[in-house]
Amino acid sequence: MAPYKIVMVRHGESEWNEKNLFCGWFDALLSEKGKQEAKNAGVALKNAEYKFDVAYTSVLTRAQNTLQAILNEIGQQDLETIKTWRLNERHYGGLTGLNKAETAAKYGDEQVAIWRRSFDVPPPPMEADHQYYDNIVKDPRYAAGPAPDQFPKYESLKLTIERTLPFWNETIVPQIKAGKSILIAAHGNSLRGIVKHLDQLSDDQIMALNLPTGIPFVYTLDEDLKPIKSLEFLGDPETVKKAMEAVANQGKAK
Ligand code: 3PG
Repeated sequence: MAPYKIVMVRHGESEWNEKNLFCGWFDALLSEKGKQEAKNAGVALKNAEYKFDVAYTSVLTRAQNTLQAILNEIGQQDLETIKTWRLNERHYGGLTGLNKAETAAKYGDEQVAIWRRSFDVPPPPMEADHQYYDNIVKDPRYAAGPAPDQFPKYESLKLTIERTLPFWNETIVPQIKAGKSILIAAHGNSLRGIVKHLDQLSDDQIMALNLPTGIPFVYTLDEDLKPIKSLEFLGDPETVKKAMEAVANQGKAK
């Protein structure tokens, strides 16, 4: 019965976050700081006495390892976990591997802000000669999807939402309505897409949202899955605010 609660968390800092590189579908690992953030997320959830019935995550290691660290902390190491490309980070296309600040110095802070945070302006495509093209497209973990002719070469937030929402509506929503306690460990932009959908944020409003790494947040939803409470972070408000600002500033020229 409503109200329903669902917990979501962006993966801990990745090695490419640490180097301030556009990451997207490149399978960067957690940095040492990111591993600690993931553990801390688990401690916060343990202290808040959360237990889960099912967890969802992406195909990417940084999200899966964040989830596992959390589950280890709360004593649910063997929890049923569903992994799907539909929760992957937005595909950053030809920007993948570029330094965000250097890209801002070259194209301007405003252009990078548009690429990072706009709703429907995609980054440039990842062409077949891109240094990470084969690494991503030929990853055997995508055998179950997306279909080769649907495999993204870039994604705007709009395109990301278009492939995340079917999973949300067809797989996660029925579990929420069945009263299951759910944890989603995913990525800054796939989670921004879910937040935009839940809170019915405008294309302009969503531009202002930057999600910090490794700090869980809770949505409390009514019978119709309308938020009663949104984006309740399990962290000190000042810490969360500073972390969000730090994410925003990653895309500015030094
Ligand atoms: C990436 O994919 O580079 C990050 O994980 C998210 O990047 P963003 O905060 O620049 O969208």
